[in-house]
Amino acid sequence: GRPVYFDCDTGIDDSMALLLLVSSDVDVVGIGTVSGNIDADQAARNTLDLLALAQQPDIPVAIGARAFLTTQYAGGVPHIHGRNGVGDIDLPRGGEPVEGDAADLLISLAYEYPGELEIIAVGPMTNLAIALQRDAELASLIRRVTIMGGAAMVPGNLSAAAEANIGHDPEAAQAVFHAPWPLTMVGLDVTLGHTIALEEQWRLTSSDSLCAQAIGRMLELYFDFHVEIFGERCAALHDPLAVAIATGEAIATLAPVVPATVDTTDGPDRGRTVCDLRGRFRDYPERPDAHCTVVLEVAKPFGPTLITRLLALP
Ligand code: BDR
Ligand code: CA
Repeated sequence: GRPVYFDCDTGIDDSMALLLLVSSDVDVVGIGTVSGNIDADQAARNTLDLLALAQQPDIPVAIGARAFLTTQYAGGVPHIHGRNGVGDIDLPRGGEPVEGDAADLLISLAYEYPGELEIIAVGPMTNLAIALQRDAELASLIRRVTIMGGAAMVPGNLSAAAEANIGHDPEAAQAVFHAPWPLTMVGLDVTLGHTIALEEQWRLTSSDSLCAQAIGRMLELYFDFHVEIFGERCAALHDPLAVAIATGEAIATLAPVVPATVDTTDGPDRGRTVCDLRGRFRDYPERPDAHCTVVLEVAKPFGPTLITRLLALP
């Protein structure tokens, strides 16, 4: 399968994304963690525990950036992802992280799979930015980067302007947006439109799959938070949708390739993704400076696909 490096701040929707990814037909050759939903160390703990549950204990996991490029990490979001990042459920303990940090793991994998390695990043983009700083060749070795992050045409969630993965570390995100690699942005524009609700949660918790049960239990807390946004118990599938777009399991039906940048100023727009979506509706002219594919519409509801896949896990 295609070699993939996955970068995450595990996280409830990161957990779903991870399980979806390891059960797809790509080859997950390494995982790095970053502070975001939870600190990078606990994110690695959660990732390793989930990999053990999915019977994939051999995928290397490296702890990555604990702080952002220009700011400290201010702590997790217990009201969204729990005090431990995974909705305060207990997971059986998995293996240990590898030596070296996530940026070094990414760089070494890029040389092991030159021109082939794909990156899927669903947390703050700090590890990717550090890797770009450490190795000037990196971008040219990577086949494609797919991120969950940003908001091209809708409000942010961390602030009025910023989606969380971009807003936590706008300088890192800007480096990722400007590096000469093909980039696909799966932002709030589409992820908020793909949800699962109570019936799906019940199917997960009442299944025989330990992985599905774990996700079903985590969703309890995640649903509490989403009541504020949607007025009902459900959850947006941010990170899993980005994985599915990257693997081809979800198909984008509107995804113009446009110039895009990240606002790194200190005002209210800090962390905004500025995507140049000017053009006739559904008919975006080709531009020489365009290299960011902005996913604006996905063919069909993705929730059912995700549930089927989670239920098929160990
Ligand atoms: C993103 O922020 C995190 O809380 C989620 O895991 C997702 O990656 C959504 O804005
Ligand atoms: Ca995430």
